[in-house]
Parts: sequence; structure tokens; C-alpha cells
Amino acid sequence: MKIRTQVGIVGAGPAGLMLAHLLRLQGIECVVVENRSRRYVEERVRAGVLEQGTVDTLNETGLGERMRKEGLHHDGVYLRFADRSHRIDFVELTGRAVTVYGQQEVVKDLIAAALHAGTPIMFESSDVAVHDLTTQQPRISYRDVAGAAHDVVCDFIAGCDGFHGVCRPSMPAGHLEFFDRVFPFAWLGVLAESEPVSPELIYAHHERGFALFSMRSPGVTRLYLQCKPVEDMAQWPDDRIWEELQRRLGNDAPVVATGRITQKGVTPMRSFVAAPMRHGRLFLAGDAAHIVPPTGAKGMNLAIADVRVLSKAVGDFYRDGSEDRLNRYSEICLRRVWKGQRFSAWMTSLLHRIPGQSPFDYRVQLAELDYITGSRAAATALAENYVGLPFEAS
Ligand code: FAD
Ligand code: DHB
Repeated sequence: MKIRTQVGIVGAGPAGLMLAHLLRLQGIECVVVENRSRRYVEERVRAGVLEQGTVDTLNETGLGERMRKEGLHHDGVYLRFADRSHRIDFVELTGRAVTVYGQQEVVKDLIAAALHAGTPIMFESSDVAVHDLTTQQPRISYRDVAGAAHDVVCDFIAGCDGFHGVCRPSMPAGHLEFFDRVFPFAWLGVLAESEPVSPELIYAHHERGFALFSMRSPGVTRLYLQCKPVEDMAQWPDDRIWEELQRRLGNDAPVVATGRITQKGVTPMRSFVAAPMRHGRLFLAGDAAHIVPPTGAKGMNLAIADVRVLSKAVGDFYRDGSEDRLNRYSEICLRRVWKGQRFSAWMTSLLHRIPGQSPFDYRVQLAELDYITGSRAAATALAENYVGLPFEAS
């Protein structure tokens, strides 16, 4: 079957769904093609921290109702290191704050809005591929659950299919330049049924490795431990996880309330950028074009920033035929992406135990933490990046 639409979107993650929402508000039609089930994408536990600009975007576009009720507004975070605990007060330093609201909750809200407005989301599509990228009528092909073949013929394709998607590899060899850094450690993340014992996130630098205390709701905590890039989960029974979290986060004070662990997983740590974010009529957005190590809580926020720009650029095109913003899309996005990369790599290097680190470098790392917690200027630099730099003027 052949489906005709204005914008074909590959991927129903935060980038693809938010783009569909922003386009719909301008009266632009789109179809979303997703290879997983609705249930899978709604339950995939990932990011949790929304920058102020992401929160504002959700509120301004009519999607903020549940987030305002269930999201947790955080005015600061704690940094723990060398038996010290120091609060970075975002509001005092920047006048802005963050909201803890799970990525899958944002995804649920976006899916509900799309379906309510009649935007088709083709879940459980297989053999997804993109074609004719340098023509005026690019095309997405896929098979539905029953195996029937379909084509979405459109004016533009948005590649919002994440790091492992098909859009980026469909650009011709030699078109893209890749920038990459793989960190020699990973995060073991757990979701647990336990009361958050700290009202705010705790980022802990510890001689045994980094740990992060976060949360999702009054009865659910989200916790992360620095671990090896490849871990046998059999070596991480629940007791060991709780013991390790307590040691690294608590400095021997009881900060972790144990509870039933409902999910465990290992997240690799990588910085990656593919540039330019466009080939012909295919535009990449979010993790399809760039990923960051999670320490700065930037990934989803960068994805939302990209599609804000893309939705404006596509809007210009349909309003008056102007391609100026489309032509500058990659440049506009990458300016902010690189600042997100810088901050994420910096937070990662600041807070983790770096394998093979010399005693000199370890002491410089501790001195940097001491400096950040002792200097208003340094704390402000951390805070203004964490709450989110302004969207690029486009
Ligand atoms: P994705 O969410 O990856 O969505 C891509 C979609 O495309 C998926 O639904 C996928 O199923 C679909 N897809 C893939 N291939 C195909 C195909 N061939 N055909 C059709 N569909 C396809 N970010 C933050 O901002 N704050 C945080 O606190 C934070 N913490 C994180 C913690 C962890 C443990 C992890 C793993 C990530 C974290 N991130 C965080 C990063 C954030 O989750 C990602 O940056 C975000 O999901 C990017 O959104 P996206 O829509 O670009 O990509
Ligand atoms: C969470 C994830 C992050 O990467 C981070 O830096 C802070 C919080 C979270 O999942 O809650």
C-alpha cells in the first residue's frame, strides 16, 4: 500500500514523537514508522531529567498536564566526594531548575496526543528502509505486523530512529564525518521500589567508582553504579548492588533505602556525533545523529532541541517555500549539540574513577570537585549547563 504524507518520521522515541507533535500544531501531516510495539516504547526506562527548556516546550505545546502533577521539580543536586556533601543550588545560581519525569512518561503523553489527533504511528514495523533521499519525494518502506509491504511517500524524512537505527547508515559513505569517544566504563542502572531518602539527586565520586541516586516518584528510586563496560549480571545479585550503592553514596551514612529491584541493565558510555545531520531530504535528529554519556542528563534534552529546530524549518518551507532554515538545520543544531557534548564529557571525567588514572590526575580530579564546591563561578558554570543552555537562536 502507498501512503502519502508531508513528513515521514522513522522512530517513535522522544525525538520522533515530539517532532510529530510540533508539526501537527502547524497543520503539517506526518506518519511515524516504529519497529517496536507501543508497549515496549512506553515501558523502556531511560532518561529522567528534563531541562527547564524541555519542560517549557511540553507546557507551551499543551503536553504538560501530567508532568506538572507527577513530575518532581528539583532546585538543585548534591555532589558527594571525599566524605563531603555539597549542594549545587540551581535556582540561586541560575534562576532555573530541572524536572524529574521519566522519559517513558513523556513518550506515553506524546503517543496519547498523537493518537488523539489522528497521527498514524505504525508500531511493530519491520524491514524499515529509506529511499530516494535526494529527490523531492523520498520514501520509507516497511512491512506491517502481518507482513504486508507499505511505502510512505513524503516531502521530507526525519530520521529519529536512535543510535542503532537505519537512517544514518542510509546516507552515502563519505557524506558523514564521525566524532567518537568510548569511555572505559559503563553504568549499571536499577529501578527499585524504595522511598527516595534524599529529596534531590546525588552525584557521588567515590574511590570505588561513581554512583548516582535518582528517583521517579515517591515510591520509586533510580540508581546507577559505575561498572565495567561488560558485566555478567549474575555477578550483581541485589545484595551486592545495595551494598555498593550504600558504600559509594552514603559515605557510611544510611542514604539508601533498600527495596525490591524491578529492573537492572548496563548502559555503555559513549560520546558520538555524525555531521552533517542532513543528506538531501533526510534529516537526522536526536540519538540518530549524536549520543552523550548520561552523566550530564543531556541526551533526551538534545533530541528535543533538535526537533524544535526541524519543526520550525519544515514550517517555514510549507508557509512560504523558504529553505533557508532547512539549509542551516545541521549547523544550528550542532552548535548546541557540541556544548552538550562538552558538558557531558566533562561531568563524566569529573565524577568517575578513570581506569589507569595516575595519582597526580586523581588529585587534580579531587581538586576540581573542591574548586566547584568552593567557587560560585565554577558552580554556576555547572548549574547553567545542567539546567540547560538556551536554545540556539535560529
Ligand atoms: P530513541 O529514544 O532511541 O528513539 C528511537 C526510536 O526509533 C525507538 O523507539 C526505536 O525503537 C526506533 N527505531 C530504531 N530503529 C528503528 C528502525 N529501523 N525502524 C523504525 N524504528 C526504529 N537523556 C536525558 O536527557 N536525561 C537523562 O537523564 C538521561 N538518562 C539516560 C539514562 C540511561 C540509562 C540511558 C540509556 C539514556 C539516558 N538519556 C538521558 C539519553 C536518552 O534516553 C536518549 O538520548 C533519548 O532516548 C534520545 O531520544 P531519540 O528519540 O533520539 O532516540
Ligand atoms: C537520571 C539519569 C541520568 O543520566 C542523570 O544524569 C540523572 C538522572 C535518571 O535516570 O533519573
